[in-house]
Amino acid sequence: MMTPVMNSASTRLDEIVDGIYRISTWQEPYGITFNQFLIADERPALIHTGMHHLYDDVRNAIGEVLDPATLSRIILLHWEGDENGGMERFMKAAPQCELGGSLLSIQLNAAGFGMAERAHGFRDGETLVLGKHTLQFIETPHVHHWDSMMIFEQTTRSLFPSDLFIQPADQPPIVTEDLSVPMLDLYRAAGIFAHESPVRDAIDRVQKLSPAWVHPMHGGSFQADRFDTYARALRENEFAYRGMLLGREVAAAAPM
Ligand SMILES: [Fe+2]
Ligand SMILES: [Fe+2]
Repeated sequence: MMTPVMNSASTRLDEIVDGIYRISTWQEPYGITFNQFLIADERPALIHTGMHHLYDDVRNAIGEVLDPATLSRIILLHWEGDENGGMERFMKAAPQCELGGSLLSIQLNAAGFGMAERAHGFRDGETLVLGKHTLQFIETPHVHHWDSMMIFEQTTRSLFPSDLFIQPADQPPIVTEDLSVPMLDLYRAAGIFAHESPVRDAIDRVQKLSPAWVHPMHGGSFQADRFDTYARALRENEFAYRGMLLGREVAAAAPM
């Protein structure tokens, strides 16, 4: 791993594995880090942009590795502010760049928000060669949103699961300890999954790919041994929505 580069008070850049960089900003009000992943290659890709207001920090961090104007793809794993809130600014600064997302994200949201040009929707099983790295797209509907997908990078065997495997608090680039209990507590308090079953189905699918690395959008990256720990916690415990949204009780969902 490279020495971290601090771009602002709270944004740091670390190379995790072979050209895959984690750009991470701690956001106190949410109690989690917001991570983007830069894949430096012939056709560089950025997975998640971060929120609109993080643009300068994320862009500066990318600039430590390569010219952000050369980005070839901005990829979102579902349509949401922290996933792709900075996309218009990145796309504007990189004239050759295309937006990538699940077919549903692009058909419904990119088109509806006026971003259909320079955008491409990927179906389950499709791949995209960046150079040394190859992205494999995995549609995971209703794992948080109905347009959700994950990415498996085949060369480093890296899984990008978006909001699955979140660990709260300001986690380092690589985590080794078992944070499955705080993960479950966060899911119950935040209410990001409507039901356990689509999540467990997705875990079954991605486990068959035998990922060597997992790079969650919030928390630290971890290696294969910890995948089993988090997968087991999600299989054996309830964690879906039970009337709490971002720590707030929703009256309409209270027990009758
Ligand atoms: Fe999300
Ligand atoms: Fe997220």
